[in-house]
Amino acid sequence: MKISVIGCGYLGAVHAAAMARLGHDVVGIDTDAAKVEKLSAGVAPFFEPGLPELLSEGIGSGRLRFSTDLADAAGARVHFLAVGTPQLPNSDGADLRYVHGAVDALARVVAPDSLIVGKSTVPVGTAGGLVDRLRTAGSRAALAWNPEFLREGFAVADTLTPDRLVYGVADADDAALLDEVYVDVLATGIPRIVTDYATAELVKTAANAFLATKISFINAMAEIAEATGADVTTLADAIGHDARIGRRFLNAGIGFGGGCLPKDIRAFTARAEELGRAESVAFLRQVDAINLRRRERAVDLAVELLGGSVFERRIAVLGLTFKPDSDDTRDSPALDVAARLHGLGARVRATDPEGIGNARLRHPQLDYTTSAEEALRDAELAVLVTEWREYRDLDPERVAGLMATPRVIDARNVLDPASWRAAGFAYRGLGRS
Ligand SMILES: NC(=O)c1ccc[n+]([C@@H]2O[C@H](COP(=O)([O-])OP(=O)(O)OC[C@H]3O[C@@H](n4cnc5c(N)ncnc54)[C@H](O)[C@@H]3O)[C@@H](O)[C@H]2O)c1
Repeated sequence: MKISVIGCGYLGAVHAAAMARLGHDVVGIDTDAAKVEKLSAGVAPFFEPGLPELLSEGIGSGRLRFSTDLADAAGARVHFLAVGTPQLPNSDGADLRYVHGAVDALARVVAPDSLIVGKSTVPVGTAGGLVDRLRTAGSRAALAWNPEFLREGFAVADTLTPDRLVYGVADADDAALLDEVYVDVLATGIPRIVTDYATAELVKTAANAFLATKISFINAMAEIAEATGADVTTLADAIGHDARIGRRFLNAGIGFGGGCLPKDIRAFTARAEELGRAESVAFLRQVDAINLRRRERAVDLAVELLGGSVFERRIAVLGLTFKPDSDDTRDSPALDVAARLHGLGARVRATDPEGIGNARLRHPQLDYTTSAEEALRDAELAVLVTEWREYRDLDPERVAGLMATPRVIDARNVLDPASWRAAGFAYRGLGRS
């Protein structure tokens, strides 16, 4: 099938390449010429495991190409919409300007029997408004909402073998067309839920709100653990054995970040207020506040471990991205902690396997090094803020030999406290006795 993907960022580039893998004839459109140039050369414009191989395969097969010209999408039967929906600059709401811009432009070029399929995360009610927009612009194209649940770091596998497919449609024929697109995915028995626009939009928002709440719940328990001498990791293991609770997403630390969870829970709160249902999701304000407090807590621990001030003290920050196996530093707790420590006058040396380029754009004032060893050399404190495998696997004896004084804050609770203490470290986790 001829398919276009509008917006080739973390979601869209992977989706376009995955659609080509499924045998479709795909054009990816993005307004960012530099991104399109890279993608066209088979080079991933961001770090995502497995994407370079998928891009090369698609381009080599002749089934995948990229363009800045929306006219190149005109012949497609299905147009996936994967543009960004960031937080508005001065409010909690979602900025829909890219969605509106893309739909207005599509209305001018798409065939009347084509289907526009929203994948971006949008406030409930958006899809209905987009249909009105299409009709006002004189387009008869149909619209469906097919929210995306991929996790950065696992985006390729999550796109090709998702947990479930959700279609928000106004017409059964549109669901049938989506079944054709995903025929090979569905053949593996993946559940498919066909519903209306509002439910499909809300499924995505609700899923992110639930995950954020689960993380903030365990981080709230970490705060109580800190006040009582309890250990939040043991607590999480113990409650996680209850199948109704489950252990996943119960890791206390410096909380969630990235281009999705923080802005999505804020946009949900803003949308609920518009709907006169502010009280229904008022708890999400607490979820957000608990999350942000954990970054402060990591900074406070650094001050405490260094005897009352970080001013002029040498601190190694291990990690900058919001999670491992991604180069994404959008709303990254790790980068925030690095910037806060720098703001307090610390001599921060920050490192990350993939995130330095993006981090430098946001915080050019920080001192970056690609080598963890360089970051740790002569440091008086190490702060592990993104749980990359190479930091989890650090040998405490070796790290102690590099540092001026062996102090570590394990802000993701991924190190073994006993072995770090045995190597002479003053070890502090978050919410750990
Ligand atoms: N990143 C994720 O893990 C993820 C997961 C699920 C859902 N989402 C949702 O997917 C959407 C996209 O997220 P992302 O992380 O890929 O964002 P992103 O910023 O990486 O990518 C968005 C892309 O859209 C392009 N764009 C903007 N306007 C355009 C237009 N009119 N025509 C063509 N291209 C245009 C931008 O240049 C950019 O490359 C958001 O709504 C997000 O919430 C993201």
